[in-house]
Amino acid sequence: MLSFSVVTLFPQMIVSHFSEGIIGQALKKGLFNLETKNPRDHALGVHKTVDDRPFGGGDGMVMLAETLSATIEEIKKSNPDTHVIYLTPHGKPWSAVEAKLLSEKKHVTLISGRYGGIDQRFINKYVDQEFSIGDYVLSGGEIAALVVIDSTARFIEGALGNNSSAASDSFSLNGLEAPLFTRPEVWDDVGIPEILKSGHHQNISLWKNQMGELITLIKRPDLAA
Ligand code: 6GU
Repeated sequence: MLSFSVVTLFPQMIVSHFSEGIIGQALKKGLFNLETKNPRDHALGVHKTVDDRPFGGGDGMVMLAETLSATIEEIKKSNPDTHVIYLTPHGKPWSAVEAKLLSEKKHVTLISGRYGGIDQRFINKYVDQEFSIGDYVLSGGEIAALVVIDSTARFIEGALGNNSSAASDSFSLNGLEAPLFTRPEVWDDVGIPEILKSGHHQNISLWKNQMGELITLIKRPDLAA
C-alpha cells in the first residue's frame, strides 16, 4: 500500500486538509497511509532552531540541513527505500502522468520547504526528484504537497468510490470532460442537451467522448492528442 511521509514545519496544514473530502475518506478507509514529520522535533537548543540566514546574503531564511537530515533519517529507519521528493519551483512540472507513476510507489517522502528554501547540501544528499506545481512562487511547499498527495491518491484502487475512476477524469491522461448538467431540466429558461435524457447509453457515451475532445481542442489545444 502507498504511504506518504510529509516533512513540514506546519503539520496541521496537511492533516486538516485530509480530515474531509473524498481523499479524506480514502485515508480513513485505510486505502493509503499519511504521516507528518516536523523538523522542529529534531532541533537542538532552547530555541529549537530550524533555519538560519543564507551565506552570501539574500532574502529569507534557509532551512538547516542538520534538522532536515535527522528527520529523513528517522523516516528511513522504517522505510529505507523511500522515494524522496522536494517541492520547489525549480522542479519538473507536476502532471497526471507523474501522479499515476507516483501512485505505484510503496513509500514517498515529500519535503515542504518554508522561508527562502533549504540548504542545497541536503538536496544533493537526499532528494531523488523535484516537482513544481506551476510557474509562481508559494510561501511554502505545503500546498504543493497537498496537490501531489490528492492527485496521486485518486489513482489508488477504490479511492474514488465504486463507479468512478481517475482514468476517466478530466486531465487524467486523456484531456478534458464533457459539460455536466443536473436538475432542474430547465433552469433560468435554459434546457439541457436532449441526448442526455434519451436513455440511450451508447449514444450518450459517444456524445460525451466527442464533446470532451471538442472542448479539449477549444480550451486546451496543448492537451489534445
Ligand atoms: Cl512545489 N513549492 C513552492 N514553494 N512554490 C511553488 C511550487 C512548489 N510550485 C510552484 N510554486
